[in-house]
Amino acid sequence: MNGSGRIDILARAGSEGIELEIGDSGPGFAPGVAEHVFDPFFTTKPPGKGTGLGLSICYAIMNELGGRIACGNRPQGGAWFRMVLPLAEDGAGAARDE
Ligand SMILES: Nc1ncnc2c1ncn2[C@@H]1O[C@H](COP(=O)(O)OP(=O)(O)O)[C@@H](O)[C@H]1O
Ligand SMILES: [Mg+2]
Repeated sequence: MNGSGRIDILARAGSEGIELEIGDSGPGFAPGVAEHVFDPFFTTKPPGKGTGLGLSICYAIMNELGGRIACGNRPQGGAWFRMVLPLAEDGAGAARDE
């Protein structure tokens, strides 16, 4: 980490629900990595540094909520993540039995 960076966050109402887009000014994904980042325990960090659980848990949460998450590299460099969250049917919070 060089002490500076940028994160762009966009939230909007889309045709399928709430769309969230997050972009960063980091190194982006190395070739072949983006396809695996949602796999449990997949990490490119050295032993003892990464668990490979962060994005697989995000993926599981999005699935649970009936949404989607995807990622890739931004043309200008850095990574992007895009999420779509469906609206609750009654419009009053997550539609689930507790
Ligand atoms: N913003 C990002 N930019 C580039 N690569 C990323 C980014 N977020 C995650 N990754 C890649 O995805 C891998 C898996 O991420 P994650 O599930 O959070 O596990 P961890 O952070 O423990 O490695 C990371 O090791 C890294 O290679
Ligand atoms: Mg992580």
